[in-house]
Amino acid sequence: MTYETTRRTVLLATGATGAVALVAACGGGGDDNGPASTSSPTGQEATSAPAGEELTTTDQIPVGGGKIFKGQQVVVTQPEQGRFKAFSAICTHQGCTVASVSDGTINCPCHGSKYHVADGSVAHGPATRPLPAEQITVEGNSVRLT
Ligand code: FES
Repeated sequence: MTYETTRRTVLLATGATGAVALVAACGGGGDDNGPASTSSPTGQEATSAPAGEELTTTDQIPVGGGKIFKGQQVVVTQPEQGRFKAFSAICTHQGCTVASVSDGTINCPCHGSKYHVADGSVAHGPATRPLPAEQITVEGNSVRLT
């Protein structure tokens, strides 16, 4: 008697579990598809609008110095606390990529040209033209190319 009761209980439980699983699968799939397809295009527009590749964060740029991003061929400097500038990393003398930022200048290893971190102007030849400015935006602590 006891054994028979147990078998029925197990069968009922299995049947109920199966039914619940079927309902969950149907309901879950239907609900997920609706809102997801509606909100996805909106999300893409929101992320593409402010655009700009994030280069770095502000805490990575030393005050009075800068950092070179060879992949993007850009130098980001912070001449004064909280003021950020960006320049091309291509030396205007003969096109080498600048290699270091020290003592307030951006330095080219090829022939010794140096550029001021504040405005990219020539601090030491043989280069005669300044490094062209690049456009960046700083949002919070994020530095982005624009
Ligand atoms: S290419 Fe930079 S100093 Fe000549």
